[in-house]
Amino acid sequence: MITGADGQVGFELRRALASRGDVVAYGRAECDLENEANIRVALRATRPAIIFNAAAYTAVDRAESEAARAGAVNGIAPGVMARWAADNDCVMIHYSTDYVFDGEKDSPYVETDSTNPQSVYGKSKLQGEEAVRAAGGQHLILRTSWVYGHHGHNFLKTILRLASERETLRIVADQVGAPTSAALIAKTTARIADKILTESAGSGVYHLTAQGSTSWYDYACYIVDRATARGFGGLLPTDKIEPISTNDYPTPAKRPLNSRLNCAKLMDCFDLPLSPWQDGVEEVIGLLAATN
Ligand SMILES: NC(=O)c1ccc[n+]([C@@H]2O[C@H](COP(=O)([O-])OP(=O)(O)OC[C@H]3O[C@@H](n4cnc5c(N)ncnc54)[C@H](OP(=O)(O)O)[C@@H]3O)[C@@H](O)[C@H]2O)c1
Repeated sequence: MITGADGQVGFELRRALASRGDVVAYGRAECDLENEANIRVALRATRPAIIFNAAAYTAVDRAESEAARAGAVNGIAPGVMARWAADNDCVMIHYSTDYVFDGEKDSPYVETDSTNPQSVYGKSKLQGEEAVRAAGGQHLILRTSWVYGHHGHNFLKTILRLASERETLRIVADQVGAPTSAALIAKTTARIADKILTESAGSGVYHLTAQGSTSWYDYACYIVDRATARGFGGLLPTDKIEPISTNDYPTPAKRPLNSRLNCAKLMDCFDLPLSPWQDGVEEVIGLLAATN
């Protein structure tokens, strides 16, 4: 059972899991995570062997003024699903975020590093992690970062639009992380699901991002360069993209300066490679170019 089936990761999960068994995919209309009764009805009707919880309240800045809604979807609902899973021999696969960290560390975060979320969104996602763990069933919490895909709203698509509309762009250069394609997350999750159904895999938190890292500014330049090379016309030249600091771009929610997640645990435990972030960008730009 997939929740959030129309989001970036949910959409790609539907594709990645389609050939692997019976998949029931719920969007918000069929399974609203703000409504506990609705969640229980969906679970009883579906009786899944694995729950892939890709639904989340992801409007990071809006969450600062909608803490109750963010808390219901990100903090409480995952616990409802995980408790059902614990009681019904079901595995709970849940997604979380780099925003559970404060970003002060000067190297990539490992799973055992202390959390210290700085935003309402980050706090609500940490609450969700804790609820999934506390339910006591078999679970995987996959923390990822800077998600994008050809389906949905994301930084890559926003940059392509702005680069065709504006003469200059100012992009934050002092936040670093790994842009991670929803397709990589979904493919990796599907391979993990294969393994947990055939081998006994332990519960726990794993970091799942593309490999390498970049800043939002370098990422924007890379997007424009590669899209131009792939035939997108009328994009501004990258020397018209100006690097700025986080302080020059105030937002309601505080973001971590260091979003880098060390993924060695996932790669070792599941014997899975994770590709460089540039590969996913290339793939998505190729898909967008085909429909441009
Ligand atoms: N996006 C990122 O950069 C990022 C970074 C790190 C971690 N993550 C995590 O990765 C996971 C997947 O994120 P994503 O990028 O795929 O997010 P997304 O594209 O925003 O998709 C989230 C989905 O959840 C749905 N949703 C929101 N509220 C809901 C509710 N009350 N009931 C049911 N569904 C609801 C949304 O539906 P509507 O479209 O109707 O709102 C949307 O389809 C999430 O756990 C997120 O926290 C994301």
